[in-house]
This record gives sequence, structure tokens and C-alpha cells, in this order.
Amino acid sequence: MQTVLRCIDCGKSYPSDQAFVTCPACGGLLDVEHDLDALRGAVSHELFDQRLGSWDRLDRSGVWRYRELVLPDLPAETYVTRGEGNTTLYDATPRLGDYAGVRKLQLKHEGENPTGSFKDRGMAGGVTQARRVGAHSVICASTGNTSASMASYAAISGLQALVLFPEGYVSLGKIAQSVAYGATNVQVHGDFDDTLAIVRAAAESLPVYLLNSINPFRLEGQKTIIIEMLHQRGWRVPDWIVVPGGNLGNSSAFGKALMELKTLGLIDRMPRLAIVQAEGANPLYRSFVDGSATLTPVKAQTIATAIRIGNPASFAKAWRTLEWTDGVVTEVSDQAIMDAKAQVDAAGIGCEPASAASVAGVRRLVDEGVIAPGDEVVGILTGHVLKDPDAVLKYHSKALDGLTSTFANTMHTIPASLDALKALIPA
Ligand code: F0G
Repeated sequence: MQTVLRCIDCGKSYPSDQAFVTCPACGGLLDVEHDLDALRGAVSHELFDQRLGSWDRLDRSGVWRYRELVLPDLPAETYVTRGEGNTTLYDATPRLGDYAGVRKLQLKHEGENPTGSFKDRGMAGGVTQARRVGAHSVICASTGNTSASMASYAAISGLQALVLFPEGYVSLGKIAQSVAYGATNVQVHGDFDDTLAIVRAAAESLPVYLLNSINPFRLEGQKTIIIEMLHQRGWRVPDWIVVPGGNLGNSSAFGKALMELKTLGLIDRMPRLAIVQAEGANPLYRSFVDGSATLTPVKAQTIATAIRIGNPASFAKAWRTLEWTDGVVTEVSDQAIMDAKAQVDAAGIGCEPASAASVAGVRRLVDEGVIAPGDEVVGILTGHVLKDPDAVLKYHSKALDGLTSTFANTMHTIPASLDALKALIPA
């Protein structure tokens, strides 16, 4: 069975054990291309079911359970895992379903990963490849989740992590993780797009392995969000999958996962993908509306700092996903994001602002008649509620500039007396 790297632009292919992450010939994005003919006999629903009953560290991982579809044929000890994946697929409460406007809404909570975001699936893939190519140091630019995850996965693998952040636009929970896990942390005077440009240049000239989502092994890991979700649904395909879009790594990974599953006969039809961007960080949405496969970068601004990205690195792969899945792109305001977040949080599920773009996006697409109220919809929640406590507390104390705290749950303060409590909560 032969897995190769293939450039999506010039088509050149390379052995998969290489340390470069973009095409050395033309600079294009690379795919990890699996030998699907050979895989057809090697993977089955039964194989994946069997592994659910095993304590083997690879079978227990929600990434490596599906290793044939991710990064096959490595010695068992090469695979890096923190037991990532295995995240809950929630049935939304009726109230949350009403808010979103659909009767059958499920939410896959990727915030339940070891470092609190879906990035752990990508890092299982990317850090495994880093070890395979003999890297000692790994680097990324990040709005906070990639860095938290890379710092952790590097530490458990004995690699040095170098993280660059856009100064002032990374939430507290995420910075704290990267500092705690022992990465070298650098704040850059610039936004995420500026920071990623520096990191890409650094990876060309320094002995560091690049772990942003242009790294195709990251995307192989992130495919398992979709594979695991379909496994959880008994391989029943929903009508829609809805995901927030920033740098567009997930959107790219999802399209590839669905295409491969369909080709292998593991699913019988393609769902439609809806990608949701913040209004102030919407370059894919603009291209979609124009019907133009070219990217025009924007200067990004949104309260959902995780997706404050104006020049998404995986644009070309995301565009391909839209074609493969008859996909759509929508945009939502910061107000819609924070109100949807308050609803997801109050349902007891909780997520960070960028994740709530999924639910806000479902609501908008139902309003527009794109998603029907009776459609089966799976939304992806990408990060944990504790990632951005600042946004939570400011929303509920009505302290967000320019936004209305529609569903505020205000905090009370009383003197230390039972009478004061009784005055607040009458019998
Ligand atoms: N949701 C969260 C919580 C994220 O952290 C990100 C991206 C996205 C959605 C967007 O995903 O880039 O695959 O379209 N965070 C990156 C980071 C950029 O550095 O942590 P995407």
C-alpha cells in the first residue's frame, strides 16, 4: 500500500516521508494521497467497530482508530497520541434546536479533546510526521488553539515548540496553555496573517518543522472529526455538516474525508457542507458570493479571535470541498455569534465564540431557506467554553462594546446575610 504526497496545483508526487509541507516544485498545497484501491479491502465498518472494544493505545485514539485513512503503515511506537478524539455527538436540546431552527440538530464537541480543541486531532497527525522525519523543533503561528495543542503534543514527544501569536488577539485560556506546556512563546506586532507569513518564511530557513494546517498531515488527523462522527451515527449521512471557517483547514479536511469515504463505499452519499465565517473575517464568503475561485484577502476583525483570519492558507482546498459537497458559505455577525454561544452554553454544552458560528450559521441558513427545518444537521463545535472566559464574563455583564447581551445571565452580589439572599430569591 503506497501513500504519497501530491501537489494539488502541479500534480507532482513525492514519497510521504518528506519534511517539506508545500510542493518544492511550485509552492502549491500538498495532499496526502492514499492508495484507495488497496484500502478498499483493508478497511470496513466492522474493523472500526472491533477497535472500539480494545484498550490498545492506537485503537483507543479517535484519530488512530482510523489509521489506514490517516497515516498507515508506521511502526506502532512512531504514532503520537494523547487519546484525542472520542468526542461527544450531542443531540441538541429542543430549545437549542428551536433557536437554530431545525428539529434534528446534533453538535459534535471537539472542545472535549485533551487540550480543548479539534487541533489535537491534527497534531496527532502532524507531530507523528515530525517525529517520522526526525524533527527536533516545531513551529506554528496561531490564534491560540493550534499553539496550545502543538505545545502539548511537542512536549509529550520530546520536541521543542516555537509559537508565534498576533499580539493582543489571543484569548487568555489559550496563551496560558502554551506557556504552561513549555513552548517558546513570541508575540508579534501584527495580525494572524502577518504572523503566519513570518512562520512560513522561518520554516524555509531554520531547522524547524511547520505545523500550521498547510501541513497536510494535520489535515489527515482532522479528517477523523468526520469519520468518527459518521461512525457514531452508524454511518448514516446527515443532510448537512456545518463548520466555522478561519484558515480553512477543517473545511479542507472535511471534503477530503467525505470524498475518500464515499470512494471506499464506507458511506453511500455525500452530505452538503456549510462553512460559516465571521462577517469581519469573510474572504471565502466573498468569493462564494462572487462565484470566484480566487482569494482576495481582507483585513480581519471579529470577537471570535480564533477565526480572525483574512488570508486563509487552505483556500484552494476549501474551494475544492465546496465543489465536492455542493457546499455553501455564509457569514454571521459578532452579535449572532455571541447570542448563539449564549444558547449553546445555556444548554449545558458550552463552547468558545468561534464554535458558536456553526449554530449561528445554521440559524441564518434556515432563515434563508437553504437548510430546511426538517433536515438532519450536524454542527461542529471546535473549542471548549473555558478557552475564552473573558468573552463569557463580558457578555453576561453587558460589557461588550457595540454588542447587546441578549441572553445575559447577570451575577448578583449580596452582603453576607440570609435575609439578603432571601430578598434576592423569594420563597
Ligand atoms: N474554531 C476554532 C476554535 C479555532 O481555533 C479555529 C482555528 C477555527 C475554528 C477555524 O478553523 O482554521 O480550520 O478554518 N484556529 C487556528 C489556530 C487558526 O491558530 O488555533 P480553520
